[in-house]
Amino acid sequence: MQWLMCPVCREQLELNARTWRCQQGHSFDLAKQGYVNLHVVQHKHSKQPGDTPESVAARRAFLSGGFYAPLRQAVEALLQQYQPKTLLDIGCGEGYYIQAMQAHVVDCIGVDIAKSAVQHAAKTNPEVTWVVGTGAVLPVLDQSMEICTSLFSPIPKPEILRVLKQNGLCLVVTPAPQHLYALREQLFDEVRPHEPEKFVAQLSDAFELLESKVVDAPLVLQQQDIQNLLAMTPYAYKAKPEKRQALEQLAQLDVTASFQLYLFKKM
Ligand SMILES: C[S@@+](CC[C@H](N)C(=O)[O-])C[C@H]1O[C@@H](n2cnc3c(N)ncnc32)[C@H](O)[C@@H]1O
Ligand SMILES: [Zn+2]
Repeated sequence: MQWLMCPVCREQLELNARTWRCQQGHSFDLAKQGYVNLHVVQHKHSKQPGDTPESVAARRAFLSGGFYAPLRQAVEALLQQYQPKTLLDIGCGEGYYIQAMQAHVVDCIGVDIAKSAVQHAAKTNPEVTWVVGTGAVLPVLDQSMEICTSLFSPIPKPEILRVLKQNGLCLVVTPAPQHLYALREQLFDEVRPHEPEKFVAQLSDAFELLESKVVDAPLVLQQQDIQNLLAMTPYAYKAKPEKRQALEQLAQLDVTASFQLYLFKKM
């Protein structure tokens, strides 16, 4: 793996024993779980950035129920079709999707700003290079990646353009307009549809849209699943506490998750 970039001087990092080091002598040890922390203090804005350990744990529990497997399969199908060799997953969380994506590429890097997420992720798949880092300074060299993926995560456009090779791909997954409608209906008096097209508008000057597809996953959730889902989405914070509590007390909820996938090509 020769793609990691020193976050201090931006030179190439090389792994020797359990230390990533650049020519200038900046060095970053692998943690015992096997990830490397490249989130240097110069780029840090908060003590515990990214998702909280609680929301990471809730997402891990929810995803392990297989509810979002249809999305994971759709993402795998795209990789099989386009066959990129180097992949950077931005905001990889605890690695549910990248675990599956890794099997379809040669070099796979997952980066997330939340250390607790990467700590869990690193235990799942030693074939992935796991990095604690920030989307604001992606931890890989210029023009090194054939695909960047961002599933429900930030899309740092200038950085994605920097690290993608010519004609490189960018996969964006974001809630489709009707995502979890039946759940949001219980939380809000007025449910506003998600607006995934805004990402196309944001990226269209530098990327060509190759594919756009919606994947639906009808779910039957039990009480614990509902609670986990609420803890991992931003909806609950915006809802009235009594509405959230009522939803958390439901024995069962039928709801459809709806995902928008966009595959872009760097122009
Ligand atoms: C909604 S979660 C999605 C996680 C994962 N892709 C998934 O779908 O399971 C968004 C993730 O982006 C991470 N994140 C937020 N801001 C970030 C940043 N500036 N750089 C890198 N990761 C960031 C969060 O810590 C969180 O794990
Ligand atoms: Zn350096």
